Amino acid sequence: MIVILDFGSQYTQLIARRVREAQVYCEIHPYNIALDKLRALSPAGLILSGGPASLYERDAPDVAPELLRLGCPVLGICYGLFVIGRHLGASVAAAALREYGPARLRIDESDPLFDGLEGEELKVWMSHGDRIVEPGSKLVVIGHTENAPYAAVRSRDGLWRGIQFHPEVAHTPRGARLLANFARLVCGEKGDWTPANFVAAQVAALRARVGPEERVLMALSGGVDSTVAAALVGRAVGARLVCVFVDTGLLRFGERERVERVFRPMLGEGLVVADAAALFMERLAGVSDPERKRRLVGHAFIEVFEQKARMLGGARFLAQGTLYPDVIESVSVKGPSAVIKSHHNVGGLPARMKLELIEPLRELFKDEVRAVGRELGLASEIVEREPFPGPGYAVRIVGEVTPARVELLRRADRIVTDEIAAAGLAGRLWQSFAVLLPVKSVGVMGDGRSYEQVVALRAVESLDGMTADWARLEPALLERISSRITNEVRGVNRVVYDITPKPPGTIEWE
Ligand code: XMP
Repeated sequence: MIVILDFGSQYTQLIARRVREAQVYCEIHPYNIALDKLRALSPAGLILSGGPASLYERDAPDVAPELLRLGCPVLGICYGLFVIGRHLGASVAAAALREYGPARLRIDESDPLFDGLEGEELKVWMSHGDRIVEPGSKLVVIGHTENAPYAAVRSRDGLWRGIQFHPEVAHTPRGARLLANFARLVCGEKGDWTPANFVAAQVAALRARVGPEERVLMALSGGVDSTVAAALVGRAVGARLVCVFVDTGLLRFGERERVERVFRPMLGEGLVVADAAALFMERLAGVSDPERKRRLVGHAFIEVFEQKARMLGGARFLAQGTLYPDVIESVSVKGPSAVIKSHHNVGGLPARMKLELIEPLRELFKDEVRAVGRELGLASEIVEREPFPGPGYAVRIVGEVTPARVELLRRADRIVTDEIAAAGLAGRLWQSFAVLLPVKSVGVMGDGRSYEQVVALRAVESLDGMTADWARLEPALLERISSRITNEVRGVNRVVYDITPKPPGTIEWE
């Protein structure tokens, strides 16, 4: 695998995506990972990400020299280039002419990194205020731009490379090729990381971990992730998999019936439905803080699973459909990606848990999970479903969650789903849903004044949920949704459309 050391760039996840698109497995770790941990991963190559820091700041993040001397090739991107430069005796300074935005790279020396890209001026994307002013004796220049004479360098021993531009962003159109070249030609990776190989490796690993008599409980929400995870675990352990669907009372209209309809024929007795709406509602009563809600939901889930495990005569493992973005956004490494939300199935878990976790999709992005689902033969209506957050309506009701507010949101949300489907957009947006706001506004209905609640409509397009843009829905569709909600959902007199991309917003409101 390739290891990406994260210096906190907003693009670090994109680097991982591009490397995986080259069918090379990679993982992101903090730049200050311990040496023995890094060694244990036995990386075929290291990529140092960009980052917001400047090398002159006090405490500017740096890697321990031993990390760079594992003997595998290293590629520094942007800030990562300056880190490499510093370790190899180059001098780095604030650029007199800052280069942000588009630039043209001229290749000065051939290098496997540029395989298939030579003979062209490459459009690249720059975004940094520092630059190398004097490369020193250990670095050779292999490419430059008008304002950055050392925009691409290589160490004389051929092991270290650095580039000042960002190959991972769409504004560097041939950047994916460059990263693929690094992974395959420089690091020698075969490029055989495919859904089929992933399934085979995971099934083998699960069989090795779960003993022949042991049972696995699976948290099945009916969404893409847990369904794909269930199919994967089921392939490994067969009938020793028991899927528990928790009706939290925070679910979309008809969800429980849908899950029974889809999964009962597949799982028979292996599907257990837990009716836990009262428990979740009781725990959430009086709570408005989003992170507290998330933690309470996480704890309530585990409580239900442990109780079901006892009732079933014991299980050692709990399987979940946790994904890579859940992990990345929930785990704070010093400096880099700050905790954004405690996803209910990662940061929201209680510290002491009796069940051991199995998370076979923990390293995958959503579209990779969908590819694995197709590989496992799951129907496209399951694989293409819109994501729905584990805490459900608890994070779509801003403020306190009460049974009446849940009911109101469920009605509004159902209208959104129906109208999106009627417009032929089902499965074509990343997500579309209603959010209930904790504000009231004045309106006029019939001849009277109304003072009622506000529903926000959220519809976004995204590739993996890490970044997103609001969907440019047709005005006629927005109009239908708005008028149906205000006409049909008693207690709502205003509908607003959320036009915030991610970043700076997130997809869910909490
Ligand atoms: P945000 O709101 O962070 O959401 O932009 C990104 C994607 O993740 C989903 N989401 C969750 N999924 N448990 C989940 O299983 C959670 O706690 C959770 N929170 C957010 C969200 O719906 C979006 O697709």
